[in-house]
Amino acid sequence: MKILIINGPNLNLLGKRKPEVYGAASLVDLHNQINKVGVAIDVEVTCYQSNHEGDIVDRIAEALQDNTDGIVINPAAYTHTSIAIRDAIEAVEIPTIEVHISNVHNREEFRHTSLTAPVCIGQIAGLGFDGYEMAMRTLKNKFNKN
Ligand code: DQA
Repeated sequence: MKILIINGPNLNLLGKRKPEVYGAASLVDLHNQINKVGVAIDVEVTCYQSNHEGDIVDRIAEALQDNTDGIVINPAAYTHTSIAIRDAIEAVEIPTIEVHISNVHNREEFRHTSLTAPVCIGQIAGLGFDGYEMAMRTLKNKFNKN
């Protein structure tokens, strides 16, 4: 099984950016945790991060070419604005789970709306980096059932 992990804008600044909200660990730390989970559940993992909406759209479409079986996406600020990323997730029809490190629902009002969650299997928010692990395990369980 192949899982693609996508992190959106400013998540390259993890560890530096608002550590009281996002924690002290870096994107490299997150990728290390994800790769360990991949080994533990026997899944091939690719980690991708971009600050650019169109690049994220392109990467989602590319997932069709490289036979990705599941996507875990934290679209970051694009969660709340991007019809293009939403349409890309919907178009590829690859099971996708949305993850947020922080609990977007107890933050500013504009973070309460997700344009992308309706085309995902579900959304995990507020569980820190563990949200990615839970999303990966869920995708793997679904894959095994099919
Ligand atoms: C975030 C929440 C978004 O509202 C924010 O714009 C981010 C990160 C999270 O992981 O908690 O950049 O997606």
